[in-house]
Amino acid sequence: MTASLGVAVIGAGMAGKAHAAAYRAASTLYKPTLPEIRLISIADINEELGSEVAARYGFERHDADWRAIAADPSIDVVSVVVANFLHREIVETLLTAGKHVLCEKPLSDTIDDARAMADAAREAEDRGVIARIGYSYLRAPGIAFLRSLIEDGRLGEVLHFSGRYWTDYGCRPDAPMSWRYQGPAGSGALGDVGSHLSYIAEYLCGEVREVSGGRFSTAISERPKPLGAVVGHTRGNVSDELVPVENDDYATFNARFERCVGTLEVSRVAAGHPNDLAIEVFGSKGGARWSQTNPGQVEVILHDEQDDLAGYRIVPLGPAHPGYAGGWAMDAPGIGIGQNDLFVHQARAFLEEVTGTPEAESLPRCKTFGDGVHNMEFLAAVAESAAQGGSTVVVKEH
Ligand SMILES: NC(=O)c1ccc[n+]([C@@H]2O[C@H](COP(=O)([O-])OP(=O)(O)OC[C@H]3O[C@@H](n4cnc5c(N)ncnc54)[C@H](O)[C@@H]3O)[C@@H](O)[C@H]2O)c1
Repeated sequence: MTASLGVAVIGAGMAGKAHAAAYRAASTLYKPTLPEIRLISIADINEELGSEVAARYGFERHDADWRAIAADPSIDVVSVVVANFLHREIVETLLTAGKHVLCEKPLSDTIDDARAMADAAREAEDRGVIARIGYSYLRAPGIAFLRSLIEDGRLGEVLHFSGRYWTDYGCRPDAPMSWRYQGPAGSGALGDVGSHLSYIAEYLCGEVREVSGGRFSTAISERPKPLGAVVGHTRGNVSDELVPVENDDYATFNARFERCVGTLEVSRVAAGHPNDLAIEVFGSKGGARWSQTNPGQVEVILHDEQDDLAGYRIVPLGPAHPGYAGGWAMDAPGIGIGQNDLFVHQARAFLEEVTGTPEAESLPRCKTFGDGVHNMEFLAAVAESAAQGGSTVVVKEH
């Protein structure tokens, strides 16, 4: 095994910090089987932020230009955590330079760029260079438990699925213009949080076959220009000048999956719902639901319960559930698993693959760029359905 790995993160914004924190903690999960992880650089064009984040998470330096990371032979592993439209150029350059790349979802803001990135990843793989995409919610023990309830037959035949990812970061008209509001139809709420909801739906319901009933709404059509840097979902410090919002604030659609049909709904203007990812699966023997609002528990109903006790029961997640035992500093039931924790498992899984840990001894592998293209084809089908007034669109088999 490699004696040590040099790590860098490009993008010091909301999710960039989560990647930085995750690389710092990845070695502390499970047994100490990873090589030494050297935290080398955080790159961000916002130098003040890059410097602060590098210092905060113990990285040796910050770079204003990400190309310094591509050129640095001491760096082996890089997370790309910037606006989606920037992913392609950065990822392709890094892969050419021989860096293993973990790119944030969605792979890009256009399907053509995503396909080109998958081609570059295949070519890099032939040279032993690994490119993966971060689907952090696949690390949520509650979602993994829902899947095991489906796969071991305890919910019976899956009848239908309901999923929503409501956020409210754009619900106020004074939320400043940022990269999130620019790009083609479907790159708004659908690309941002719908990318998560769609891969979660497939993880539970099987591969998507077709979508219908696509509808987008741009509820707030203009936003003020920011006067300073916009990081994550920050508000305020805006000018009086308004610029048009290009993509969707809200999206809804139906889908037919291998196992069942379902409805999916995403929003960035759902006031009072800062991060409300909620999924529910209905089966012939019962049902189960999980929500990011209470991520340390799953609610389950099974029909074989006594009639006078019938109803959803709350199951606190713990070592009996997937992705829980033996890894966390405390892995007792009821400690809760937050969204930041998912990034730590994701970083660990990526580092395990890079260091050649056999799959059977590793956390579930991160997804491939091919999976990332499929996710974008799914979302593109929703956009096509919406453009055609809700018509049915077949999604290419993955
Ligand atoms: N997995 C998750 O749960 C999750 C959560 C949030 C965001 N994301 C993804 O992470 C990515 C970044 O999102 P975010 O919310 O962190 O964005 P953000 O706007 O908060 O941060 C992006 C950072 O990139 C910097 N930047 C811009 N151009 C750059 C350049 N050329 N070189 C280096 N840095 C540059 C900006 O200064 C900013 O600090 C997106 O792909 C998003 O979809 C994933």
